[in-house]
Amino acid sequence: MIIAIDGPAASGKGTVARRLAAHYRLPHLDTGLLYRAVGAARLASGGALDDVAAAARAARALDLESLDEEALKAGPVGEAASRVAAIPQVRRALLELQHGFARQPGGAVLDGRDIGTVIAPEAEVKIFVTASPEARAERRHRELIGRGEAIGYETVLEDIRRRDARDAGRSIAPLVRAADALVIDNTELDKEATFAAALAFVEARRRELGIVAAAAPDGGA
Ligand code: DC
Repeated sequence: MIIAIDGPAASGKGTVARRLAAHYRLPHLDTGLLYRAVGAARLASGGALDDVAAAARAARALDLESLDEEALKAGPVGEAASRVAAIPQVRRALLELQHGFARQPGGAVLDGRDIGTVIAPEAEVKIFVTASPEARAERRHRELIGRGEAIGYETVLEDIRRRDARDAGRSIAPLVRAADALVIDNTELDKEATFAAALAFVEARRRELGIVAAAAPDGGA
């Protein structure tokens, strides 16, 4: 079973993906980390973020085993990731790796922007997690402050809006919900309620697809 989770920055899609992966004992890939690793490599090199050849080289050199999640989640890397993610050669370079991960025997959970539309349109379960920009900025702000970063809410909100516009407006694999995805808008939901909605949908899809038997009407065997 492939579970594809998409959504904008700080929507909580990563938490949903991680929890579903743990629940179903499936491997999980946060594909944002791949773009973040390319962005971080370009930042570290000091070169231009829009240097297509250098960004594609960094993408091809990527090693899944050596991603430092903590460092990649830091503030400036997200913006750099969003910029290199708009380069078609970068997306192409990361395609095989994501296809391989999605199509491993037994299935997988992947989260990102284009999982249900481009990477795994065949996924049995597609969920699009979203929330208002203000709610997402508030969460991201709290998270960054918790990590000791000195940053204001307005700056975070601006960053979220800019990334939303770039991720949704790019010509290649833009952030868009798949027609057959369940949309969970969690502006007014906490993490538990968001996960519960996702889990109920996965269970319904599993019954629909015959992966698990539907319960007998009287609840008996
Ligand atoms: O989910 P995230 O914030 O870690 O993602 C960082 C950036 O990477 C995001 O702004 C857009 C890009 N991205 C993408 O284009 N496609 C994906 N599947 C995942 C992330």
